[in-house]
Amino acid sequence: MTWARVILLSMTIASAAATTALASVTKAPFGASADGTPVEIYTITSGKVEARIMTFGARIVSLHVPDRDGKVGDVVLGYKDMAGYLADPKTYFGAIVGRYGNRIAKGKFTLDDKEYTIPVNNNGQSLHGGTSGFDQKVWTAKEVADGVEMTLVSNDGDMGYPGTLTVHTKYTLHGSALRIDYTVSSDKNTVANITNHSYFNLSGEGHGDILHDVVTIPANRYTPVDAVLIPTGIASVEGTPFDFRKPTAIGTRIDAANDQLKIAGGYDHNWVLSTSVGTMKEAAKVVDPQSGRVLTVSTTEPGVQFYTGNFLDGSTHGKTGVAYEKRTGFCLETQHFPDSPNHPDFPTTEIKPGHPYHSTTLFTFSTEK
Ligand code: GLA
Repeated sequence: MTWARVILLSMTIASAAATTALASVTKAPFGASADGTPVEIYTITSGKVEARIMTFGARIVSLHVPDRDGKVGDVVLGYKDMAGYLADPKTYFGAIVGRYGNRIAKGKFTLDDKEYTIPVNNNGQSLHGGTSGFDQKVWTAKEVADGVEMTLVSNDGDMGYPGTLTVHTKYTLHGSALRIDYTVSSDKNTVANITNHSYFNLSGEGHGDILHDVVTIPANRYTPVDAVLIPTGIASVEGTPFDFRKPTAIGTRIDAANDQLKIAGGYDHNWVLSTSVGTMKEAAKVVDPQSGRVLTVSTTEPGVQFYTGNFLDGSTHGKTGVAYEKRTGFCLETQHFPDSPNHPDFPTTEIKPGHPYHSTTLFTFSTEK
């Protein structure tokens, strides 16, 4: 064997070792969707961290991470079985939302000089794709190294959107980081905005409200909204309760005399992380002084929707039977800005044939004393 071949061989072995899976993956049945399609749940385990992801809505069903004493708890809201998920089309617990995460004004947009109409399901606006969004679909799952990849094909014309849209959502665990990789492609020009809609409670789901959690969002700007939560433009956070550039407890200003907070019943806004798409940056950090758990969110997306569970009203009971009251979970939905198809000055959400869109989001857990 020549030296060149020896070097090549050892490089191949080294790269194989680098990609060797460290997390374990198992799968099990998890009931069926409303039309009887079987639903499966995948359990990904890496040390003390365990994520369970099901094929209905490609949802995170549970996420166990240690607290400062090493005690493991489930930090996302959700239900113990399919009956719970089928009875609740409103909260989007743990789901991948699409085709268009967040709102499109009046369910209308124009693309290539043609006007498209999509279903309205929220105060006359289209929310999270419309009436039968990706959160309600059974995805196809495939085990991959360190996790699972979920795939959904949305037919040309689905919910009124143009183009056959293929979405791959890959969940992998790396130490205490849950990584989500999205790949979105279309056979016609279209628009898409795909995100994960998990509600976190770092003290553990069912353990009270999230107002004591200390949040940092390194963004100078956000997108204020009108009365039906459609962005009106981009504004500075300076001097407003939306300035989270310094760590601040959620509850400190959430009920301040501020029109934007009144409209949304708390925080339910998009922060502008960047106007260039594709570079990994920190989107938010949340410290829970009770448990010591810390969540750091990084993303290649230009925005993050920080939603404080203002519409939770105690009418649903979670995995452990506790009623999910107002503000008992927060979402950090990494995304393009809401209603982008109607705002030419926002980063584009257009997907063109032959140009798949990739994005990555990391939810990394650690602890503080
Ligand atoms: C998003 C929206 C909220 C709310 C939730 C789901 O975060 O911005 O207004 O609709 O989804 O309840």
